[in-house]
Amino acid sequence: MMRALELFSGLGGWRLALGGRGEVAAAYDVNQAANATYALNHGEAPRARELATIPLRELAAHGADTWLLSPPCQPFCRMGNHGGLDDRRSRAFRHLLALFPELVPDRLVLENVGGFLGSDAHALLAERLRAHGLHRLDLEACPSRFGLPNQRPRVFVVASRRPLKARPLPELPARRIAEFLDVEEDAALYLPEAILARHRRGLDLVTADDRRSTCFIGGYGQRYVASGSFLRTPQGIRRFSTSEVARLLGLPEGFRFPEEVPLEARYKLLGNGLSIPVAAWALSHLDG
Ligand SMILES: C[S@@+](CC[C@H](N)C(=O)[O-])C[C@H]1O[C@@H](n2cnc3c(N)ncnc32)[C@H](O)[C@@H]1O
Repeated sequence: MMRALELFSGLGGWRLALGGRGEVAAAYDVNQAANATYALNHGEAPRARELATIPLRELAAHGADTWLLSPPCQPFCRMGNHGGLDDRRSRAFRHLLALFPELVPDRLVLENVGGFLGSDAHALLAERLRAHGLHRLDLEACPSRFGLPNQRPRVFVVASRRPLKARPLPELPARRIAEFLDVEEDAALYLPEAILARHRRGLDLVTADDRRSTCFIGGYGQRYVASGSFLRTPQGIRRFSTSEVARLLGLPEGFRFPEEVPLEARYKLLGNGLSIPVAAWALSHLDG
């Protein structure tokens, strides 16, 4: 049984992916909406702490043997500034790697966007893992291979004291979008004519019969182009609801948001989140 620190915990995707493989000793995130959503769904609030300044003794006190982390991806994003370790959003990651030699876990799994591989942050992590005797695998995976009609290519760095071997990616046929839609649709999701007139040509449109959708990003609640797919129905063109995006990410059916979390913030949390079956596959490399 792993005893994990869930760092940059967001909605708690790592906790869901972990399942019976272990328990979360402590979760950390600075974002209030993320922490309220985590507490509602998992019954335990994360520590609302800035990881860029977290003291060694606080992390050490949890007696964890595994780090599960999804540091901010903007420094490594196609649309970000590629600032890598120099980006201010990498401060917490840098701090955690500075503490690493004092806390060396038995296992670590990091998730990020494709641009992380080959970055200075990746090189620093690889150096720390090597220096402290951990084996490492760099993996790339997308939920479209796991039966989900959604593209969300991500990389995982999996590390362990035990030797690691990459597992083949599943090749499950993608299910129809129809299976992920709400029984009753919300009329407020339909895009007004003025928005369609401005953005229609840039929208990625899918129908309920399709077996694909593009990656839903944090800005999906506010942006139209390159932010995720839109659904064409006989009634018009609409956004996917937050529960539909949650299903496409593989979150459990009962996943909920606290009432006080506004709609844009819900999309943002989902857009930052993990595809649960893909994260579980990454964790499965630590089995055995
Ligand atoms: C990519 S998201 C992680 C998503 C998460 N894996 C999930 O399943 O939802 C990054 C998270 O890190 C948090 N975060 C960013 N910088 C932080 C920092 N310096 N200290 C603590 N949390 C931070 C953000 O609030 C955000 O929720």
